[in-house]
Parts: sequence; C-alpha cells; structure tokens
Amino acid sequence: MRVAIIGAGPSGLSQLRAFALAKQAGAEVPEIVCFEKQGEWGGLWAYTWRTGLDEYGEPVHCSMYRYLWSNGPKECLEFADYSFEEHFGQPIPSFPPRAVLHDYIVGRAAKSAIRDWIRFRTAVRRVERDGDGFRVLSEDLTTRTQTEERFDKVIVATGHFSIPNVPEFPGIDVFPGRVIHAHDFRDALTFKGQDLLIVGASYSAEDIGLQCWKYGAKSVTMTYRTAAMGFDWPETMEERPLLQRLDGDVAHFADGSSKRVDAIILCTGYQHHFPFMADDLKLRTTNRLYSPGLWKGVVWAADPGVFYLGMQDQWYTFTMFDAEAWFARDVILGRIAVPTKAEMEADMAAWAAREAEADDAYKAIDFQAAYVKELADRTDYPGFDIDSTVASFKAWKKDKQKSITGYRDKAFPSAVTGTMSPAPSVKWVEAMDDSIAAFMGLAQAAE
Ligand SMILES: Cc1cc2nc3c(=O)[nH]c(=O)nc-3n(C[C@H](O)[C@H](O)[C@H](O)COP(=O)(O)OP(=O)(O)OC[C@H]3O[C@@H](n4cnc5c(N)ncnc54)[C@H](O)[C@@H]3O)c2cc1C
Ligand SMILES: NC(=O)c1ccc[n+]([C@@H]2O[C@H](COP(=O)([O-])OP(=O)(O)OC[C@H]3O[C@@H](n4cnc5c(N)ncnc54)[C@H](OP(=O)(O)O)[C@@H]3O)[C@@H](O)[C@H]2O)c1
Repeated sequence: MRVAIIGAGPSGLSQLRAFALAKQAGAEVPEIVCFEKQGEWGGLWAYTWRTGLDEYGEPVHCSMYRYLWSNGPKECLEFADYSFEEHFGQPIPSFPPRAVLHDYIVGRAAKSAIRDWIRFRTAVRRVERDGDGFRVLSEDLTTRTQTEERFDKVIVATGHFSIPNVPEFPGIDVFPGRVIHAHDFRDALTFKGQDLLIVGASYSAEDIGLQCWKYGAKSVTMTYRTAAMGFDWPETMEERPLLQRLDGDVAHFADGSSKRVDAIILCTGYQHHFPFMADDLKLRTTNRLYSPGLWKGVVWAADPGVFYLGMQDQWYTFTMFDAEAWFARDVILGRIAVPTKAEMEADMAAWAAREAEADDAYKAIDFQAAYVKELADRTDYPGFDIDSTVASFKAWKKDKQKSITGYRDKAFPSAVTGTMSPAPSVKWVEAMDDSIAAFMGLAQAAE
C-alpha cells in the first residue's frame, strides 16, 4: 500500500510520527511519501521574510511574523509523547515566542525517522480518483519536473491559514497609505509612529494590533463586523464598528465616526483552499469546529480513502493534530473500521448538533476537548490530563479579560508531566527580543 501525505507542517509531521512509531513497534506500515512545497518542515511556523510569491513563483505559505508569541498556553498544545521539559531539558514559561515553538515541533520530528519520507520543494498539483486508488500529480519546484503516481490513500495536511480572505471597502483603491492582509504582515516596526487601522475582530486583529502597539504604533483602531473583542485595551488602542468607506486617508465607521489613518491591515481571516483536489474529493468549509463531510473530523465520508488533518477552527492545535493523525493511521492500518455511509452520516450529524450548541468560547473548548479525547481514546496515543488543559484554556480566557497585555505573564501546569511552568522573569510587554536565546535566557533566570 502507498500513502501520500500532502504538507509537512505540524499536522503532516504528526501523521509521519504516528506511522514511524507504529513501525518502530513492529507494525507493517505502508510506503509513505510526504509532499512539501517549502524547503523545510514546520508549516506556518517556518518563518520567512518573503511575502507574495516565493523563489519558485509559488504563493508564500507563511502567515507568521516577527515578535509572534504563542497566543495560548503551551500546556494546551503539548505533545503527549514529547514534553516541553524533555525537549528543552528544563521547565519553560507558558507563552513562548514562535522560534521556541518551532524548535519544539521540529525537535520531535528530528527524533523520529521521518525526514526521508518527505520530498521537499515538491508541490502537489492534482489529486483525483483512479479506479481503486488515486492519481497524484506533483511538481519538483527545483527541476520543474512533473510526476504522476498512484497512491492507495491520500492525507491532506496543507493547513487553512495561508490563503487570505480579502474584502473590499469603498475608497480603499485610492487610499494613499499601505494596505496589506495579515498574511503579509511581517514586522510591527514597519508601523512605528503610525495611526493604524485594523479590520477584523479575532486573533489576528487582536495580536497584530497589540504587537504594533508594543513596538511603537501611534494609535491602533480596530473595526469589527459582528462584535467587538471588548478587551480593556491600552490607551492608544480602540475598537469601532465596521469601516464603511475611506475618503482619502479618512476612515468612516458604521457609528458615523471617522479617523485619519496612515495604514490598513486586513485581519479578515483565511480560506480553506484545496485547488489541487478534484471536485468530488474537495473539502468545502468555513473556519468552524466541525467541518461537513468529515467523519470524526478526519475521514472524507464520500470517499474514505481521503483524509484531512487540522481543518477545524483551532483551540487545540498540536495535540488535536496528533489525535487525528493517530486516528487516520489506525484507519489505514485497519485497526479502526470505517462504518457504513449511513452510520458515518449519523455520527457526523450528532457532532454537528453538538457544534451548534457550542455557542460560546467555554462550550467550544469543551466541544473540542471531547472531540480530541474521543479520537485519542480509540488509539494508542499516550494518555495525558486533558481536563487540566480544559481548565488552563478556561483560566486563560479569563486572564485575557482581566488583562490583554498581561495574560502572557501567567503560568500553567503541564498536562503531560504535571510540572508547573515558571512565570517569565520579564513581562511580555517588556520582552522585545523573540529569539530562542533571549527566551531561554529568561527561562533560566526564572528558575
Ligand atoms: C498568524 C498565526 C499564528 C498562529 N499562532 C498559533 C499559536 O500561537 N499557537 C498555536 O497552537 N497555533 C497557532 N496558529 C495555528 C496554526 O494553524 C497551527 O499551529 C499549525 O501551524 C497548523 O498546522 P498544519 O500542519 O495543519 O498547517 P500549516 O502549518 O499551514 O502547514 C501546511 C503545510 O502544507 C504545505 N503545503 C500547502 N500546500 C501544499 C501543496 N499543494 N503541496 C505540498 N505542500 C503543500 C505548506 O507548505 C505547509 O508546510 C497560528 C496560525 C497563524 C496563521
Ligand atoms: N499566536 C498568535 O498570537 C496568533 C496571532 C494571530 C493569529 N493566530 C491564529 O491564526 C488563526 C486565524 O485567526 P484570524 O484572526 O486570522 O482569523 P479568524 O479567527 O477566522 O477571524 C477572521 C476575522 O475577520 C473578520 N472578517 C471576515 N470577513 C470580514 C469582512 N468582510 N469584513 C469585516 N470583517 C471580516 C471576522 O469577523 P466576523 O466575526 O464578523 O466573522 C473575524 O473577526 C487562529 O487560529 C489564531 O489562533 C494566532
């Protein structure tokens, strides 16, 4: 049997790890080929200064930026089979910057014998059904050679926070300053001294707004479509109802107010985009907890030879990708039976009904914890204290309400080792250096 995995970001790496551990334990595993269009593994966490198109003319995948610190406690995404303490050799604070989390993700990957399974700089162009298997067309970006191969199973792990959703507002075409989407945001210092307008009211708006405030923007105005975030913002940050139009550099809002601004960042989210998947295999969904058509959130019910990983709106990330990857592996190895179409439909309908009930953040956390637990419990994924992660998530939500600039100074216990993390010795608002060296220096000082 041959299995294609598309993407070597955190989800794809979870899948490779799951197969590697099964192989190590003596199972007969299929031949695996992982296609990764970037030159390195780590997905979004593999930071690049590039925006727009990359050196091969491919859309740049990275949506991350400098000075990005984890926005949730790391204890809620810790791999059950590879703790932070094991990786770093000491407990570290709960909200590390991007480089530290990247080091952790690729650290586990490097410990598994999986790199040889990955074809880097190779983009998948087309996946379609072909008899009892799938035809996969890929392109080696360095040689421009296209190769068509047959696989028995296809696992899509290409992420869904890379292709921007870009709305238009009257007057934006002649706005005299810079207009970018969050996907192309790289360095908050670009906006130092500027009056900045941010469109959107979710994690990107919150975090990019705060980064720009921290690194010296003169003011940050965030404009919302549905509901304000409602945090107790620093003095030079504010929220206003949705932008209606721009007259030159003056932004007009739905409450009749206006403000002159120097630059605009559209933090308006991303699209699930799978141009390479044949129509009958293509997931069509918004960013939600339970995407339609995926049995257990993973198996493409209409054609169970296709799997999707990490397609949910994400409270849990790496832990959930692991649970999904172990589950997909066990379906492929025949350890978990795929039920009849009718049974899958009934199960998906039950989860969708639960999703509809999860109408606030706390219920959404409970929903996703139950989902992760159900999947993990059906495999040999190592046990961890998921209730502790639920408690941490809920405490974190409250911490953010108390202090949007201070929540990253809190500490949480590991659900894997039980160790309480140290508090950082320098508060997040004062920590300007996002390098591993700086963070580990602070971690040692905190002990
Ligand atoms: C700005 C930002 C900040 C975030 N911060 C956090 C955070 O603090 N904590 C957290 O837990 N999560 C965070 N996330 C969530 C993030 O989605 C996950 O952490 C994680 O990166 C998802 O992993 P993934 O493997 O599913 O997708 P990705 O990380 O997107 O990886 C997908 C991989 O697929 C490859 N690929 C895509 N198309 C093809 C193709 N056609 N052929 C071959 N390869 C392809 C890409 O090159 C990429 O390597 C953040 C997301 C964003 C956008
Ligand atoms: N580590 C970090 O600190 C960090 C930083 C940034 C992002 N992230 C991660 O990145 C992921 C994506 O977050 P995201 O905020 O980019 O996307 P998102 O959560 O999907 O939110 C999209 C936002 O855009 C708004 N929007 C969409 N279309 C709009 C339109 N036409 N007009 C006005 N507003 C519009 C939405 O408003 P409605 O509410 O009205 O729909 C919503 O507020 C999340 O998983 C998050 O955790 C993490």
